[in-house]
Amino acid sequence: MSDLNTVPENARDAINFYGGGYENHRMFWDSMKPNGGGRPGGRLADEIGVYFGSFDEFKKKFSEGTISIQGSGWGWLVYNQTYAKLEFMTTQNQTSPWTQRRVPLLGLDVWEHAYYLKYQNKRAAYVEAWWNVVNWSEVEERFIRVAS
Ligand SMILES: [Fe+2]
Repeated sequence: MSDLNTVPENARDAINFYGGGYENHRMFWDSMKPNGGGRPGGRLADEIGVYFGSFDEFKKKFSEGTISIQGSGWGWLVYNQTYAKLEFMTTQNQTSPWTQRRVPLLGLDVWEHAYYLKYQNKRAAYVEAWWNVVNWSEVEERFIRVAS
């Protein structure tokens, strides 16, 4: 995923879509737990403060950016290893942040399949509720592995 140019051109789109779909969802399930939520701690909390101002500002940026994705896609907290910093980004469809040289730390699926059974077309309500199941200790461990 992190070097799609090495993949034969006629397979690139399929690998981007299906490979990204696999990787994104694998992480997505691991990033949630019942009665999750709250806030991250440790170094991740510090770095969120540095790059987003505060946890609340990070949450606002992530929520607004993810809600406003046109069509299907994902909102992400990623680590930019080149500049050693946290960033928010979105991707379309199943594209993984790995394809843009970013390490995914936390992703939110806003394909309609992720929320229509419970939230119908209310993407914003789904995003708001999702914060209550984020497994921050998992995200913190992921961050420490790539940032140290
Ligand atoms: Fe999905």
